[in-house]
Amino acid sequence: MSSTVQKYFEKYGMAVLETIGAGVLTYGLFYLMALCFVDCDLELAFYSIFGKSPRKLKGKVVFITGASSGIGEHTAKALAKHGVRLVLTARRQSELERVKIECLHLSKNQLSDKDILVIPFDITDLSAHKRVFQQALNHFGTVHVLVNNAGRSQRALFEYIDMSVDKQMFDLNVFAVVNLTRIAINHFNEKGSGHVAVVSSLAGVFGAPYSATYTATKHAIHGYFDALRIEKMDKNIAVTLLCPGPTLTNFLQESFTERDGQKYGIPADRKDRRMTGERCGQLCAIALANRTQESWMGLFPMMPFVYTAVYFPTISKMALGLLGPRRLFKMRDSKDIQFDQGKRKL
Ligand SMILES: NC(=O)c1ccc[n+]([C@@H]2O[C@H](COP(=O)([O-])OP(=O)(O)OC[C@H]3O[C@@H](n4cnc5c(N)ncnc54)[C@H](OP(=O)(O)O)[C@@H]3O)[C@@H](O)[C@H]2O)c1
Repeated sequence: MSSTVQKYFEKYGMAVLETIGAGVLTYGLFYLMALCFVDCDLELAFYSIFGKSPRKLKGKVVFITGASSGIGEHTAKALAKHGVRLVLTARRQSELERVKIECLHLSKNQLSDKDILVIPFDITDLSAHKRVFQQALNHFGTVHVLVNNAGRSQRALFEYIDMSVDKQMFDLNVFAVVNLTRIAINHFNEKGSGHVAVVSSLAGVFGAPYSATYTATKHAIHGYFDALRIEKMDKNIAVTLLCPGPTLTNFLQESFTERDGQKYGIPADRKDRRMTGERCGQLCAIALANRTQESWMGLFPMMPFVYTAVYFPTISKMALGLLGPRRLFKMRDSKDIQFDQGKRKL
């Protein structure tokens, strides 16, 4: 070190280091505080104020699975408000027709009857996928965005889960998504552009206790879609993972348990600490308009929790150890877990 540099370092060195330290601390504190006030990750929060509005998708064709209720229904409604043309699919035709009428109403005459196509089908019937996608292409001439949303959760103890439940859950939450996505990607390859999204979950980012198969299906989806995104990096094809936390839908009621053919059957309560379906649909629509890669959504304390799990895994492990699985479960469901109407003890 030359004597001049050494002289300057002795004079100003500490001051520079202290300024950098203070800057890092202020940035960290700002980050931490911001996470307590937002209901989504900071990128999505930024886009919701300064990014592209879902209006950017006006006139485009968005194909949504599981559009007869919950997050799929509310994403459809958030898009319909901006004149986005829709393909609504799920099993219950009457519910899809209800969603269609409500979407037409919300569009305030931007959409007419022919702009929303209803196709009832069971997504686990993979042999129907090509026909259904072709039906959408015949009607609209193209599809711009596929939103894979249909899916079911689970409440169960790992060691009691029937293998048949694991298989059914992978059929619905993973293989149906992958098969339909491949068909859409072939269409996007042909036309040189497209966007595929999937409603995953925060359980796709970290493990959720008493939902082992569900957690595994969502982690599998992250594997497939992260790989696909890199394969399509040099093409005009976007890949988005939408990851909601607890949301007020029919989800709990419809959840698988550990037993084949059984539903958890406990409805979510309006008083539960859950994001509304409307807000979740709105955030999904913003993520789609901005073609984000991965978006997290959830009420406090979900965002500090997920940021810590991803960026500070050691602190997260310590916190999990202190909280324990049941308290973590209560944070997620706003109530204790129930097996067989409370007959089985944990
Ligand atoms: N709610 C939450 O707390 C939460 C949190 C994180 C992630 N998610 C994810 O969000 C997605 C939607 O769930 P949700 O909360 O909106 O629950 P939901 O209200 O129960 O909606 C599920 C949708 O999937 C459809 N579906 C289920 N099985 C189907 C099948 N075999 N074939 C075709 N469609 C089927 C249902 O329609 P039909 O019954 O008419 O077929 C319904 O439209 C799921 O992928 C879930 O993993 C939810």
